[in-house]
Amino acid sequence: MTFLPFWVFVLAGCFSVSLAEASNLSDLYPPLWEESPSQLNDYKVENGKYIVNPWVYPERLGAYKILLNKTGSYFEKFGPENKLNLLWGLPLQHGWQYTSGRLADPTQETDCGYESGDHLCISVDSWWADINYFLWSLPFLAAVDSGIMGISSNQVLLSPPAKDQKKFCLSVAACQSSFPKAMKKWKDFYQHLKVASSSFEDLLEYLWAAHTSTLETTHKAFEDRFQYYSKPEASFGRNWLVSVKYIGAIEFPTTLIKTHEFQKVLPQRMLVDGDKAPFINDFTELQNMVLLGLKVVYEVDYYTGSLSLTVMETLMKVPGAKKEILKYMEKILENATSKLLGSN
Ligand SMILES: *[C@@H]1O[C@H](CO)[C@@H](O)[C@H](O)[C@H]1NC(C)=O
Ligand SMILES: *[C@@H]1O[C@H](CO)[C@@H](O)[C@H](O)[C@H]1NC(C)=O
Ligand SMILES: *[C@@H]1O[C@H](CO)[C@@H](O)[C@H](O)[C@H]1NC(C)=O
Repeated sequence: MTFLPFWVFVLAGCFSVSLAEASNLSDLYPPLWEESPSQLNDYKVENGKYIVNPWVYPERLGAYKILLNKTGSYFEKFGPENKLNLLWGLPLQHGWQYTSGRLADPTQETDCGYESGDHLCISVDSWWADINYFLWSLPFLAAVDSGIMGISSNQVLLSPPAKDQKKFCLSVAACQSSFPKAMKKWKDFYQHLKVASSSFEDLLEYLWAAHTSTLETTHKAFEDRFQYYSKPEASFGRNWLVSVKYIGAIEFPTTLIKTHEFQKVLPQRMLVDGDKAPFINDFTELQNMVLLGLKVVYEVDYYTGSLSLTVMETLMKVPGAKKEILKYMEKILENATSKLLGSN
């Protein structure tokens, strides 16, 4: 039971973020947002098809940017300036992967993704880049297929990576046939997005259903990438993957500000041998705690055979319980934070 506070602590971290309103929302955008393509015409066109190269950071980011723009009008009823668009979580995560060096070639055999080399390159050997590929291509292509992007489904092609091409899908039709369940969930999300009566909570539920389904059906193909990583980084990746299911179960609202605040507690660099939370010197105390917490979530999940996830999901479905749980978590976080600060 001593594990519980840590576990709850992490989950609570998602919710009770100090909402210091940014004076300029554009400060919260992922790096190179302004410079990235903002319309499909900014991409290469061949035989009437847009060619997007997801192995170059601004091209991947640009597709997110267009997606955010094209879905913006559906989120207007919840708040201004597109800041409550729930799709913000995706490009912000990708931005964190980029700045923290997680898109670079982990084998270090090429200069792909390194500041001193081809810094915009996204490596196919990066576990993070591969996992993100599907949280990028499926929502993007499902939006195309749902008529949201204003082009027809056969009008966009994705460039293949340098190797392992069979592990990836490169068009609406190919992704549809390889990952029908996840594609359907993304399309369900867009379907509900277009329905005027859909609530913020409804959309959040559909979004997370699509997100977790995508991870579930794609992550196994990239287990081999962990061999290139330090032990702490590989274990962080595994812990993160499991924790995201819990973050999804409590339906973390992936809006611009909340995601931005939440990401501050994630490691700002790759973990190296010898990094051991909560004793990593150049991480804040909160970052250390969260890193430890993610490990605890992973272990609780492992030792309970995911029963803890089922319990969590069941609890969240009890009418009225969700609000109470979140409030309780917020309290625990407040307490934990004040203890942390007090011990400084
Ligand atoms: C916000 O930042 C952007 C980019 O740095 C800049 O172009 C814009 O003028 C700023 N807006 C305000 C209101 O300061
Ligand atoms: C989308 O982009 C167009 C053209 O740049 C712009 O006028 C519009 O305000 C944008 N919509 C949103 C929701 O950002
Ligand atoms: C938070 O701390 C206060 C005072 O120490 C305590 O009364 C309360 O029960 C704690 N709340 C939770 C949720 O742990």
